[in-house]
Amino acid sequence: MQNNPIGIFDSGVGGLTVVKEVQKILPNESIYYFADSGNCPYGSKTESETLRLTQKNIGFLLNQGCKLIVVACNTVTAVAIDILRAKYKVPFIGMEPALKPASIHTKAKRIGVLATENTFNGRLFKETFQKYANGIEVHIQPGNGLVELVEKGNHKGEHARKLLEKYLNPMLAIGIDTLVLGCTHYPFFSELITSITHNEVKIIDPARAVARQTKKIINEFDIAAPKETCCEFTFFTTGEKRTAKNLLQQIMIKTFKIKQMTGEISPF
Ligand code: DGL
Repeated sequence: MQNNPIGIFDSGVGGLTVVKEVQKILPNESIYYFADSGNCPYGSKTESETLRLTQKNIGFLLNQGCKLIVVACNTVTAVAIDILRAKYKVPFIGMEPALKPASIHTKAKRIGVLATENTFNGRLFKETFQKYANGIEVHIQPGNGLVELVEKGNHKGEHARKLLEKYLNPMLAIGIDTLVLGCTHYPFFSELITSITHNEVKIIDPARAVARQTKKIINEFDIAAPKETCCEFTFFTTGEKRTAKNLLQQIMIKTFKIKQMTGEISPF
């Protein structure tokens, strides 16, 4: 089991922002990443459709022998994490809406959160909100259209800037000093967000915390790869290989094999 890979998946390429952090703190672990880019985005799908696709993705990773699954998707975590933990034996790590670190950081007591509709609608966000938003003004904004731009590799262009300005300017107008990125695709916009916010807003991305939690669970379950093991990164996608390759290079994940999935992926 120790030598088996960690499975990480997302509706698309967004979860690579989590992979990058996992690789930094778990350099001996091999990773199988599954991007369901052919069915992306999940953020506006019904719960039952999201659950159906999620179970396919997990089935695929478990059939490859993954010892632990990181759900590198806020939307899937919001919709399905409890169901997944009840159904499968492997440990699951999900994405947390990073309201806790944001509430600690904000001096203005004004926070912005950018996420998908389904993430905001989920129990997890509502509970975290109640726990940490006391006395803090939280401006929530669904980032409709942003995921699609990343999937097409258009996250640095003029259209992306316009859309982000539309979402961020009202938050800046009320004086937020902290912005939570509640979707794993959004760190791809970091440069643009920093430019629009004039580098005056702290951007909080939970990816590093998720990587730390992954390390903790791996140690607790005693399934860490031996120190002398060399890691491998394999990228599976239901979408296009070429776009994926460009994004992988941009995010500096260098050692990779890319496999494009065709046909039905069997459930576990
Ligand atoms: N990366 C996913 C998330 O974190 C994107 C969801 C979508 O496909 O809309 O929520």
